[in-house]
Amino acid sequence: MPVGHRDGHLQAAWETEPKDGGVRQYNSRQPAPAFQLLAVHLHPLTIHLFYCLTMLWTLNFAVAQWTPLPALPAGDSLADKIVVLTGANSGIGLAAAHTLAARGPAKLVLACRNMSTGAEALAAILKAYPRIDAVVWELDLADFASIRAFGERAAKELPRVDSAVLNAG
Ligand SMILES: NC(=O)c1ccc[n+]([C@@H]2O[C@H](COP(=O)([O-])OP(=O)(O)OC[C@H]3O[C@@H](n4cnc5c(N)ncnc54)[C@H](OP(=O)(O)O)[C@@H]3O)[C@@H](O)[C@H]2O)c1
Repeated sequence: MPVGHRDGHLQAAWETEPKDGGVRQYNSRQPAPAFQLLAVHLHPLTIHLFYCLTMLWTLNFAVAQWTPLPALPAGDSLADKIVVLTGANSGIGLAAAHTLAARGPAKLVLACRNMSTGAEALAAILKAYPRIDAVVWELDLADFASIRAFGERAAKELPRVDSAVLNAG
């Protein structure tokens, strides 16, 4: 679909090129069929409706950002549970790690690609919840060898996995 500008007008050839080898060209005074179709459908009312919907979506998004999340059910316990959480060193994963740690799991495995920020996350969690058994293990989900090594380690060192929160990536 050759597209170009000539004399300040957008030219687009949507169709097959003419048999004489030249390129079929259109401009704003003689729009391409696709533009003609668009012009029929873009009635001013349609544009207003589209504008209103966009504004509503934006408003809804803004309100959602400032609305506090509902409190998690009190008393939920992860005692005796072994939990694995991927991408636990930052963002939602880090917040989830604190939420899980607060529920006292038997073991919390923070699976992280970046071991240095993973260690920082672990230190913060152990400082806030010193009684839980939390560890940081290396896992790069973009590296199959790393995934295998993680799986083998889990099979060797964990009696089972009760919950896996696959947040990374
Ligand atoms: N934030 C949002 O508004 C939102 C909305 C919908 C869905 N989500 C989903 O929620 C999840 C977390 O979002 P987020 O905003 O917290 O993202 P983020 O801040 O980018 O954190 C992503 C986490 O995943 C890790 N990660 C990325 N690629 C990885 C890989 N190949 N192997 C191992 N770990 C990897 C990152 O580790 P590094 O620190 O090493 O990069 C980081 O810990 C994502 O799956 C995202 O798609 C987020």
